[in-house]
Amino acid sequence: MDGKVALVTGANRGIGLETTAELARRGAIVLMCCRNQTRAEAAKAKILEWYGEGQPEVKSRNVASPEMAAILTPVKPEQLSIIRLNLCSSKSITSCANILCEVDATIDILINNAGIMACSYATTEDGIESQMGVNFLGHYHLTTLLLPCLLRSEYPARIVTISSVAQKPGQIPEELNMPKETYSPLQAYRNSKLATLILAKQLASYLDKQNIMSVSCHPGVVKTLIWRGKYKYFKDLGKPWMKSPWEGTQTTLYCVLATDLTNGGYYKNSKVKTCNPLADDTQVCERLWKWAEETTGVQFTKLLRGITNEPDESEASSHDQSEDQAGGDTDEDDDTDKEEDNDEESAEDSE
Ligand SMILES: NC(=O)c1ccc[n+]([C@@H]2O[C@H](COP(=O)([O-])OP(=O)(O)OC[C@H]3O[C@@H](n4cnc5c(N)ncnc54)[C@H](OP(=O)(O)O)[C@@H]3O)[C@@H](O)[C@H]2O)c1
Repeated sequence: MDGKVALVTGANRGIGLETTAELARRGAIVLMCCRNQTRAEAAKAKILEWYGEGQPEVKSRNVASPEMAAILTPVKPEQLSIIRLNLCSSKSITSCANILCEVDATIDILINNAGIMACSYATTEDGIESQMGVNFLGHYHLTTLLLPCLLRSEYPARIVTISSVAQKPGQIPEELNMPKETYSPLQAYRNSKLATLILAKQLASYLDKQNIMSVSCHPGVVKTLIWRGKYKYFKDLGKPWMKSPWEGTQTTLYCVLATDLTNGGYYKNSKVKTCNPLADDTQVCERLWKWAEETTGVQFTKLLRGITNEPDESEASSHDQSEDQAGGDTDEDDDTDKEEDNDEESAEDSE
């Protein structure tokens, strides 16, 4: 990945931290987008302590095979840049994207990783229920504003959005901004993770012509602070079989590196899997997309057309129609995964 530029949201801990480290060990420059400067600096220091020049475990810590060790290189401090990003704030998202767009930055890999899970009711600075706000809307907003940087990639660019098996019972309700009165922490998480999966699918179809690939993935059930204080079952019993954060980044890495990726696919254990059928419902996807465009005030399709100089298809078709009227020319192995699919769910139920 020498010379490639990757952006990782939520890079300071858990799966995002390990993803950042793995990309940097493969030679990438990583933009660590984090909401807290101190935590981000500590994360950078940790990566350099693990894999920096002269560290004893550079080629032995978290290495899948001896062949792998041969291609890993020590991480240099200048490979890791910190950019402030709070996905709860459209101001912060805009400022993060501006920093990159103003210097005509190129982004080859975008990892939409940051997330919150099953938390008490809260809203973003912009008044959106926080799980839908951070997990879906914040990433929609960021990805849209970063389009010019992604389109500059010569590789071409790839977008990996972290969803979850929790998307399976997810819904895209009429009222997308879940009100406090009917708020369910778990259902809000499920809905937000289905929305992030749809984000990845929609990006794949809109950006296909530009050769940009977009996929979503489930990292597994991973021992990270996302579970903190939530489910006793995971804390007391689950530890031995839960994945480590390094194991949890393997499917993300696969999605970054694989040469035979299915555009728009949902990946789990490095294989494309079936997902919630709502993600194939055009009306549902369009409703979600329209809500994201209206709520953020940032219109993905318009922005894309502006950059690529493509005509507005809706205008073109209404033009064709008026000319007509004027008489002119006229999965596969999903069963084996069922047990694991239920992991998050059973933990939730067991509380
Ligand atoms: N762990 C699992 O079992 C599991 C399973 C399925 C899916 N996932 C998904 O995997 C992703 C990573 O989760 P994880 O397990 O690594 O969780 P984690 O350890 O809690 O890390 C979450 C990261 O997101 C960042 N974040 C949270 N809110 C943010 C905001 N408003 N703006 C910017 N960054 C924010 C956190 O930053 P701070 O440190 O500042 O809070 C942290 O860096 C999430 O999308 C999660 O839904 C995890």
